[in-house]
Amino acid sequence: MRKFLIILLFASACSPKSTNEDNVLVHIEDPEVMKYAVDGKTIYENHCGNCHQNDGTGVGNLIPPLRDADYFQASVHRTVWIMKHGLEGEITVNGQIYNQPMPANPKLTPLEIAQISTYLYNIWGMNEGKITSKEVENYLQQKPDF
Ligand code: HEC
Repeated sequence: MRKFLIILLFASACSPKSTNEDNVLVHIEDPEVMKYAVDGKTIYENHCGNCHQNDGTGVGNLIPPLRDADYFQASVHRTVWIMKHGLEGEITVNGQIYNQPMPANPKLTPLEIAQISTYLYNIWGMNEGKITSKEVENYLQQKPDF
């Protein structure tokens, strides 16, 4: 009986999360946005999802959320900068303090950053439209105030 319980617990811990999250793209209507968002979703899941989670909810008080997060929503410029250069030091997201370093992504191209940004800023109830690689290049030329 005890063994059964352990197997059951193990199985539920390993089972994949709700697949509803795969549907986030269906809310995007503009085909230009969709083109970027489809690639952006894959790149996000490969480069960011391990930490921020594919559903953007973060991990406890170690990794801040992106979904419904005031810090994230406040500035596309800052998010673009963080993706490329990483982030260190204390920040407050939705009233919770975080202070773990995020690694830089020097290999991400402006196009890839544009695709991730377009994805993230057009799901979870947001509708920022397409963020182009030209915009990303401009953002990367000037460090935001933070
Ligand atoms: C190794 C784990 C890790 C990876 C991978 C990672 N991050 Fe982060 N990220 C963090 C941590 C930790 C912080 C908080 C940094 C701090 O406390 O200063 C953070 C902060 C942020 C923030 C600002 C805080 C917020 O919630 O808005 C944004 C935006 C962000 N990350 C986006 C991304 C994106 C997009 C990617 C993929 C390109 C990514 N991160 C990859 C760990 C990670």
